[in-house]
Amino acid sequence: MRGGRHREAHDTMAGMNTPPEDAATTTPLLRACRGEAVPHPPVWFMRQAGRSLPEYRALRAGTSMLEACRRPELVCELTMQPVRRHGVDAAILFSDIVVPLVAAGVDLDIVAGTGPVVAAPVRTASDVAALAPLHPDAVGYVAEAVRLLVGELGATPLIGFAGAPFTLASYLVEGGPSRHHEKTKALMYGDPALWHALCGRLAEIALTFLRVQVTAGAAAVQLFDSWAGALSEADYRRYVLPHSAAVLGGLADLAVPRIHFGVGTGELLAAMAEAGADVVGVDWRTPLDAAARRLRGRPVQGNLDPCVLFAPWDVVETEVRRVLAEGAAASGHVFNLGHGVLPGTDPDVLTRVVELVHATTVTARRPGEEDDPVA
Ligand code: CP3
Repeated sequence: MRGGRHREAHDTMAGMNTPPEDAATTTPLLRACRGEAVPHPPVWFMRQAGRSLPEYRALRAGTSMLEACRRPELVCELTMQPVRRHGVDAAILFSDIVVPLVAAGVDLDIVAGTGPVVAAPVRTASDVAALAPLHPDAVGYVAEAVRLLVGELGATPLIGFAGAPFTLASYLVEGGPSRHHEKTKALMYGDPALWHALCGRLAEIALTFLRVQVTAGAAAVQLFDSWAGALSEADYRRYVLPHSAAVLGGLADLAVPRIHFGVGTGELLAAMAEAGADVVGVDWRTPLDAAARRLRGRPVQGNLDPCVLFAPWDVVETEVRRVLAEGAAASGHVFNLGHGVLPGTDPDVLTRVVELVHATTVTARRPGEEDDPVA
């Protein structure tokens, strides 16, 4: 059993008695997240399990998204599909950011082609008061899926994830996906006390969900604040950062790398790092070398524009090499897209990107590290 992997990871970070055979703590993903030398940049893709894969569409046929998330063996297989096909350096648990909300009693559904839709949006003090905490047993099926996966994955690390308080709040307050987040912001500006109460509850739910995954064996976590880029830095710091910090800080004792990602967050990168991220995910709008400067060298993740995958291969290759070269400015670089894989993406292009990233050691190497025997 690898259920105690996070403990071993902690020992590695502290430089204590780590068994050399424990490959799980020395994989490229975990090394890059800690800013250590890697044989090649690690690569995985947000939304790597999904509709771009014919085997995903076949396995999901006839099962709703939320139902699929509740079936550990199906979750295990859906999570494994992109790992087997693409040879990525990490698996990401097949689930959704709204799964812990449903488990905590929120009436919502994931509508195909739309996203999460909430039956009764959360807008008043009594709505917030009715938002119950998440009991770990209510997501026992997630822990079970993680345990199955850890056995199946071997040395490949599993990334657990949750939605950050702002992004979860946006779905709950708007009642569904939103372009401008106007009801969310109206609540935030109009009733800060209620806003903080809501985000406090969401932070607890997200933290419980992440702790369940890490305790069951997830080797790293990603906190998705997908829609935080809708905020100014000042508002992010005032209304959001303390709550994301509660989630990330609440994981500190588990000593797994914490990746924090949002879209359109170029102006928020330093603040997102301050929230407690070990690695900051960057979308395609901010070059990774500029991001690394804003983050004072902290490891970064990203940031190929998912739309580039629809261009001819020579363009894809040029762009992948550019991202690798820019990522080399950071102390660690986890190659990824700047947001999730789009459903129409040709999966063979994703496989070729993995091969290219794995073969591009020399250009990915940072200046001055040429003699490093491990790099
Ligand atoms: O491979 C992976 O990345 C793991 C699986 C994963 C899903 N959702 C599966 C999913 C992850 C990490 C998420 C997180 C998630 N869910 C986020 C944060 C990441 C991001 O994209 O910014 C958000 C905002 C959601 C909310 C959500 N759930 C949306 C916007 C959608 C898309 C709706 C649609 O049909 O286009 C979902 C549904 C969803 N989550 C699907 C998958 C594979 C599609 C459902 C299906 O295939 O039927």
